[in-house]
Amino acid sequence: YAEDGSALWLRYSTGAKAIIMNKKQSPTLNIAVSELRNFWQGGIPITLEIQKNKELRALGNDGYIIRASKDGNHLTITSSGEQGILYGTYHLLRLQATGQLSESTLKSLNVSEKPDYRIRVLNHWDNLDGTIERGYAGHSLWKWDELPSVVSPRYEAYARANASIGINATVINNVNASPKILSDDYLQKVKVLADIFRPYGLKIYLSINFSSPAALGGLSTSDPLDKEVIAWWKKKAKDIYSLIPDFGGFLVKANSEGQPGPCDYGRTHAEGANMLADVLKPYCGIVMWRAFVYSPTDSDRAKQAYLEFEPLDGKFRDNVIVQIKNGPIDFQPREPFSPLFGAMKKTPVMPEFQITQEYLGFSNHLVFLAPMWKECLDSDTYVQGAGSTIARVTDGSLFSHSLTAIAGVTNIGDDINWCGHPFAQANWYAFGRLAWKHSLSSEQIGEEWLRQTFLPLALQPYNDSVNEISSKERQQLHSQLSLLNSQLLQESREAVVDYMMPLGLHHIFAWGHHYGPEPWCDIPGARPDWMPSYYHRADDGGIGFDRSSKGSNATAQYHSPLCEQLDNVDTCPENLLLWFHHVPWNHRMKSGRTLWAELCYAYDRGVQETRNFQKLWAPMEKYIDPERFRDIQHRLKIQTRDAVWWKDACLLYFQQFSKQPIPYELERPV
Ligand code: GCU
Repeated sequence: YAEDGSALWLRYSTGAKAIIMNKKQSPTLNIAVSELRNFWQGGIPITLEIQKNKELRALGNDGYIIRASKDGNHLTITSSGEQGILYGTYHLLRLQATGQLSESTLKSLNVSEKPDYRIRVLNHWDNLDGTIERGYAGHSLWKWDELPSVVSPRYEAYARANASIGINATVINNVNASPKILSDDYLQKVKVLADIFRPYGLKIYLSINFSSPAALGGLSTSDPLDKEVIAWWKKKAKDIYSLIPDFGGFLVKANSEGQPGPCDYGRTHAEGANMLADVLKPYCGIVMWRAFVYSPTDSDRAKQAYLEFEPLDGKFRDNVIVQIKNGPIDFQPREPFSPLFGAMKKTPVMPEFQITQEYLGFSNHLVFLAPMWKECLDSDTYVQGAGSTIARVTDGSLFSHSLTAIAGVTNIGDDINWCGHPFAQANWYAFGRLAWKHSLSSEQIGEEWLRQTFLPLALQPYNDSVNEISSKERQQLHSQLSLLNSQLLQESREAVVDYMMPLGLHHIFAWGHHYGPEPWCDIPGARPDWMPSYYHRADDGGIGFDRSSKGSNATAQYHSPLCEQLDNVDTCPENLLLWFHHVPWNHRMKSGRTLWAELCYAYDRGVQETRNFQKLWAPMEKYIDPERFRDIQHRLKIQTRDAVWWKDACLLYFQQFSKQPIPYELERPV
């Protein structure tokens, strides 16, 4: 286990020295050739070819076509760019590894693909001291003290894994950025990583600290309109591009949670972003400017990003894109989508998802996140009538933006299996796949990942006492994986919502960490918006945050008819009820139960789901090595223990207000 834990979903078995024809040589094409030579088992030769015809040009440099010849005896992978050839290669190997290439499908293969987003980017919240903010898989992959001279083999493995799922960009340092990342020493280290990533089509971006001119450059100010400040950034950009000619650009967290920004100098977010955009423009660099802003004011925190950014729509340069978290608060188990999606029409905006499970049980809980991201991408903003989904707001199709991107805050660390929980790899995988094609279903992605991960593990005897598995067992394994997909992966997100924060509850975590429950937490003098009671508002009259027109009126930030739907307690979806409304304990729910009983049922359902996860996992004991089996088994046990903790803590706390019993038929706290 320890030895192959790092293989991720790339567990291809060695092929039979396939014939691969390729006229052009380049580092990227050479990778494609060697992957196919090593792993292609389809038995027919493959030609890789860059062509500039109309059909391929329409698919862009990352797009590709994989086609079988008429007689079915030959395959070609074509693209207008080298990168597309590499992506096509991984596509073919994925079809093979997931068992989708029967003899007949191979002979009639005709695949044409192009990515939905131009920039498919991971955000590492990695600090220069090796720690990772909200990271649960060890320390940073980047060994800054060893670089630039010592190069870990994992850097290339990382690039390869990303390329295999279409990720083409990475921001390697924390958004709470140290100015030091832009020092000459560090840029030399970054250059080494960029050189390793380049052949895999993975571009480097950096998070920058807005006060770098003062903090690193020794200037008296970092005011974005100051001439010396601008000159400092210009020189810095020149230095960066002389080392890394394809450098992607900057990610900026400004005037948020104590970070410096243009507002410190009386300038707007747009003025700050545009100054950097102008500096990067000659090199085709871009600025990803985050909209994650809030402060302890009287205004509902959920409204603040919209209030600050919507008025700036149209004021940004064309190489700025505004990066918006999926929900208006902060990566909770369930949030409504951020109303900024759709509100900014002239400025390109990009979703920021969180792959690392900051609020979802760290690396102890199994939570497959594709259903959550799909829920966001498929949400209708109604901004240009029905069908104005977030996917279409952000992929450029609704407002014709050519700069499109999607970000995932990664869960990768230096743990042997990269992501802590062996199943957390599925979330890295799912992010890449959705960034490539947002219409993929969560079921398909789950199935792909399970097959690529567990089929090879099960088909290889892991010790002397286990022989090759029989074809009957193989069939059983296939159906077991399908069960794991439908009842474990696909259900796991709803389960975590149920046992942590059902019906629209949010942010009732313990003070100082985001793991366990503490709805009662009350720290005198602390920021009100960091207290759970700010969010749940439980009292004798009911529970929930009134964000309707009678309350904070956050519902007005959504477009009609969604705005009216959310505003009315009778039409607001029940899974967001307590996000938008303060609801009496005896409110009748659609099930016929009172709100209180419904809450009890939801918490209990979450717990029972996790018990079922343990049972679903158990039969895998027959197929895989004991170490891996037990690792996952233990984590599932912890997940149930934590689910019970959440249920008991929350129900016992809220019960003092509801003053009603927990129904006898449920698993009750003692
Ligand atoms: C959350 C998280 C922080 C992070 C911040 C951000 O608040 O807890 O650690 O810095 O989001 O996204 O900037």
